[in-house]
Amino acid sequence: MKVYIASDHAGFETKEAIKRHFSDKFEWEDLGTHSSESVDYPDYAHPLAEAVAKSPEARAVLLCGTGNGVAMTANKHADVRAALCWNTEIAALARQHNNANVVVLPARFITVEEAFAIVDTFFNTPFEGGRHARRVEKINIP
Ligand code: RB5
Repeated sequence: MKVYIASDHAGFETKEAIKRHFSDKFEWEDLGTHSSESVDYPDYAHPLAEAVAKSPEARAVLLCGTGNGVAMTANKHADVRAALCWNTEIAALARQHNNANVVVLPARFITVEEAFAIVDTFFNTPFEGGRHARRVEKINIP
């Protein structure tokens, strides 16, 4: 399964750890950043969101220090549902209720082990559909 991943400098180390940890499971399409040198998070969140918007069935992982900057940026794109997840319960609900296609991690506020568990939960939890499908359909501005 091909999965997009991107971060700013604050998420770089965790991004690299996630890629290594799940290297057998996913084929990563890494959209940067590629070092811990300071960068601007929208420069990485927009390209990832554009890729997901083109094929909303795609999945992606996005990181910055708090997660808020990249989530705000990604959610400007229609059909991108980027969910800020700081524990596995939130990650499960982001899939079950919101059909999130991007998991956003606050790299400065979770451990690498927590990041692995959140990503694992995100990718292994299906959307529940039903009443949630109706709500998700109302997210995009008509
Ligand atoms: C970078 O210092 C930090 O502002 C960024 O990673 C993120 O937390 C922004 O929302």
